[in-house]
Amino acid sequence: MSSTIILGIESSCDDTSASVICDGVMLSNVIANQAIHSSYGGVVPELASRAHQLNIIPVVHEALKRAGIEKHQLSAIAFTRGPGLLGSLLVGTSFAKGLAQSLQIPLVDVNHLQAHVLAHFISEGKADEQRPEFPFLCLLVSGGNSQIVLVKSYDNMEVIGQTIDDAAGEAFDKCAKVMGLPYPGGPHIDRLAKDGNAKAFVFNKPHIPDYNYSFSGLKTSFLYLLRDKTKENPNFVEENLNDICASLQATVIDILMNKLRKAAKDLNIKQVAVAGGVSANTALRQAFHDHAAKYNWEVFIPPFAFTTDNAAMIAITGYFKYLKNDFCSIEKVPFSRVTNKF
Ligand code: KG4
Repeated sequence: MSSTIILGIESSCDDTSASVICDGVMLSNVIANQAIHSSYGGVVPELASRAHQLNIIPVVHEALKRAGIEKHQLSAIAFTRGPGLLGSLLVGTSFAKGLAQSLQIPLVDVNHLQAHVLAHFISEGKADEQRPEFPFLCLLVSGGNSQIVLVKSYDNMEVIGQTIDDAAGEAFDKCAKVMGLPYPGGPHIDRLAKDGNAKAFVFNKPHIPDYNYSFSGLKTSFLYLLRDKTKENPNFVEENLNDICASLQATVIDILMNKLRKAAKDLNIKQVAVAGGVSANTALRQAFHDHAAKYNWEVFIPPFAFTTDNAAMIAITGYFKYLKNDFCSIEKVPFSRVTNKF
């Protein structure tokens, strides 16, 4: 039987990425980050789509080269159709359509959030790889989303809880901005929190029903604390930076884990995964290990390369869809909004 070789293309936000996966095993995963946004304190959509246009050809070329694969060997092209920034998505979508047409191979559309979850199934060809078994819960935390996903199979996932305002990564980034840290602030808070006291300051936690999240109250209470303390001591932030970061980080993780624990208990599920950019956070990863020990969970934490946006997760999702002949017509257009099922 011949191999199934998928080229994955990701362009939903500010990373242009291409990856080649052969029979579920990753051969390459190339990511071009867009440094241009850091001076604006956030992603500027128009600049992002222009940068994708510049990056897409070299990135795809490099992914094929590193994989040692010629274009004519590809079985299909998988691309991120949404959710994300429409201008950014259009670049990857148009490129994928054009290449698939010229090669006369199928096109597979991929939901970006489903792909974050299925990143747990990317094989790097190592002997000790572990995969969650269905059904499992996945905490999906990134700059744009905070969700608890009930994963019933590769192609049947239900969002059982999600943020009603900001995402966890957004809360980190916005609070970091208030402290004068560079964008994106999440990794800086993670680094600074390592030398801080997580109990130094107390911030508001939300009281909302079900498995939903909210981070806007925390953000406001963070802002007020800094404002009040800075009135007393203008150097408050600089003098307490590590403690502020550690306390903020601990609060965010507490909020995330409380609802996840509730969902796992209610649904009697012990297989629990984490995915998305914020899953790179050291303390969140530790919280997962602690929960594994305390609640007898089997936890799945992705390698760092698969936490932030990457095309390997698009290619693996495309691979599973390809096996089911789940192809996409050329007429399909990108979508920006998050859906409750994927
Ligand atoms: O999934 P992702 O790459 O894409 C978006 O949704 O945009 O996630 C990016 C988010 C940013 O908010 C960033 O601050 C956060 O993930 N992030 C982290 C860490 N690394 C990335 N947050 C906390 N700790 C980290 N180590």
